[in-house]
Amino acid sequence: MTPYMTQQTIPVDGADCRQAFSPSEMDLREQLVRFGRWVHRLGYTPGTAGNLSVRLDANLILSTPTGCSKALLHAADMVIVDNQGNKLSGMRNVTSEIGMHLAVYRMRPDVQAIVHTHPPIATAFAACGKALDEPICSEIMMTTGLVPLAPYATTGTEEVSASLEPFIPRHDAVLLANHGLLTYGSSLPDAFMKTETVEHFAQVCLSAHQLGGAKPLHERDIEKLQQARARYRLNASRGPSCS
Ligand code: 13P
Repeated sequence: MTPYMTQQTIPVDGADCRQAFSPSEMDLREQLVRFGRWVHRLGYTPGTAGNLSVRLDANLILSTPTGCSKALLHAADMVIVDNQGNKLSGMRNVTSEIGMHLAVYRMRPDVQAIVHTHPPIATAFAACGKALDEPICSEIMMTTGLVPLAPYATTGTEEVSASLEPFIPRHDAVLLANHGLLTYGSSLPDAFMKTETVEHFAQVCLSAHQLGGAKPLHERDIEKLQQARARYRLNASRGPSCS
């Protein structure tokens, strides 16, 4: 029995909710609420689109429920599943895309959080069968890395994780053909910022194309950026968290 499996009567929110969950679980529930609102406010998850999850421990995942607006979620709406996707706690059903999230957690032990969204420009690239893989901006090379395109797969089925598997080990952001974007990282703020960065990069790629085509970075500058990326990450990890 884990401490996460004990919630039979889940309070709706507020002080009752704080008493029901451990401080660390409550913090992660509130992060899912907060970043759900962010992705919705940015126009990345219209209607019930998108889903977010975090690791609670080595075997348990805390996820958004299926079929809900990411603008309207409460801490108590989140669902706990084991690493086979079996529901252990929650009033609602887990996201229909839980298989995709579990594939990432299984293949990437370093990943602590996942964000799936449908940001309009990045999704337009995915709808046109175009990866975001042209090395035309230093920022994306320094942070998220270039973004491949996984082949089309029917949403909510095992096809999605199968289409993603070749990309998961070496990428932190993947476009899903005719569907949307998946990003993951060391925390929910990290996964969220990668989503934001990819959508910004998609906007830059689109504008550059409209302006007549970008000039790609030179190979030797890409190598220098890779070294700069390692230094940037090291420096950023030294200070207190900015989330
Ligand atoms: P869920 O509501 O099941 O999380 O699905 C939303 C979605 O974006 C599917 O791709």
